[in-house]
Amino acid sequence: MTGSKRVFIKSYGCQMNVYDAERMGEALAAEGYQATDTMEDADLILLNTCHIREKAAEKVYSELGRIRQLKDARAGAGSSLSVGVAGCVAQAEGEEIVRRAPTVDFVVGPQAYHRLPDLVRRAAVRPGAVDIDFPTEDKFDALPSRTKPGVISRGPTAFLTVQEGCDKFCAFCVVPYTRGAEVSRPVEAIVREARELAAAGVREVTLLGQNVNAYHGEGPDGRTWDLARLLYRLAEIEGLARLRYTTSHPLDMTDSLIDAHRDLDALMPYLHLPVQAGSDRILAAMNRRHEADAYVRLIERIRAARPDIALSGDFIVGFPGESDADFEDTMRLVETVGYASAYSFKYSTRPGTPAAGRGDQVPEAVKSERLQRLQALLNTQADAFNRSMVGRRFDVLLERAGRKPGQLTGRSPYLQPVHVDAAAGAIGDLVEVAVTEVAGHSLFAEPIGKREPADRRLAAGGVA
Ligand code: SAH
Ligand code: SF4
Ligand code: F3S
Repeated sequence: MTGSKRVFIKSYGCQMNVYDAERMGEALAAEGYQATDTMEDADLILLNTCHIREKAAEKVYSELGRIRQLKDARAGAGSSLSVGVAGCVAQAEGEEIVRRAPTVDFVVGPQAYHRLPDLVRRAAVRPGAVDIDFPTEDKFDALPSRTKPGVISRGPTAFLTVQEGCDKFCAFCVVPYTRGAEVSRPVEAIVREARELAAAGVREVTLLGQNVNAYHGEGPDGRTWDLARLLYRLAEIEGLARLRYTTSHPLDMTDSLIDAHRDLDALMPYLHLPVQAGSDRILAAMNRRHEADAYVRLIERIRAARPDIALSGDFIVGFPGESDADFEDTMRLVETVGYASAYSFKYSTRPGTPAAGRGDQVPEAVKSERLQRLQALLNTQADAFNRSMVGRRFDVLLERAGRKPGQLTGRSPYLQPVHVDAAAGAIGDLVEVAVTEVAGHSLFAEPIGKREPADRRLAAGGVA
């Protein structure tokens, strides 16, 4: 029995890693581990890593350098510290991590983390254990249920992975290699997990997948359900007031999913739909398999179904071969679409991906200049979107303590952080507010009526 051991988990990368960290934390809590948010207090340090861009991957090694000093000091004092690397760098580099950073006691891939407690025990006897299998058993079946608290505290919102992996093979991207082929979880398992979360006080669930709208899971009727059908089913669960999903690919944005945005009150009017670039030539070279115009027309259809939908996207500048004219196409597409928020990155060469071998890499200075221009435009759009909210009324789900006493922070339907005057006991409430002010990326609002107290969740009890 591990008794009162403490674990420090640090996550990098996307929301799926946040979800995985929670599930790993629950698996370790079942073994007697408690959370600590101070690395120096930990008996076990777990880095849940990201491989998407070079910077993200390299961060891990500088962190491991610091951890080595901590571990050496610990050894000098006669006590021990166990160090594990999880996530996508673990999957991509495996044993290489232990070779490069011998301070690492074990490496666990994203598909094997249900075996984490066992791995921790094994590594205590023989450091250097590596488990980056893609096991045939379902890791989600092997993990503890979500009703038990883990080591990471959860507020009224939660992530829920419904689909993992990717079969799209965009020319720049490591995900198909680190997360493997696309797999969808069965509907019943997802409904069960969503009910457990609702019973534990969760009011908003964000469904996750690297390609979440390609979801095609086995339904209780033996048929394959798509994401739209899954959303209609989850919207019936008592206590769950809000649903979101991320990240989507334009090719999988089906009519039924667009209809769901029109029909479901619980489905929030926010959509993250990356396009990456606005030039058809670059889109083809990226293997995105659609043209810029198809994306613009898709957005028009989505807006016709849900006129107030807030759009977000991802962009890459400086993909190999991107000319000035190609980049101007991206700028034009952004002007045409109008984003509420967006993420943009300089292309980063990733080992093993098709684009890495191309001879026509774009110079760093050109990438920087393009990124600056694109971000300036995207910021202008985000500011305009935020300013358009002043005077608007909508519901905010109060999630956590605010910046000042007497204030709580939540999210608008459009995913903006909103600061509201409210008592601490109101965390988990959905309140109707009127927006009074914009400050940077967040909004200030006044409550104008309590809509749905968090207590509703108790009555719901997770039955649906
Ligand atoms: N599945 C999602 C994206 C997952 S990765 C999709 O298809 O849109 C998240 C984002 O990281 C991508 O949308 C892309 O903009 C960015 N990204 C991925 N690989 C990258 C690379 N090699 N260099 C720079 N940005 C990259
Ligand atoms: Fe990567 Fe493309 Fe798959 Fe998204 S769709 S995860 S960018 S390969
Ligand atoms: Fe990074 Fe892996 Fe997510 S590479 S973005 S943590 S799927």
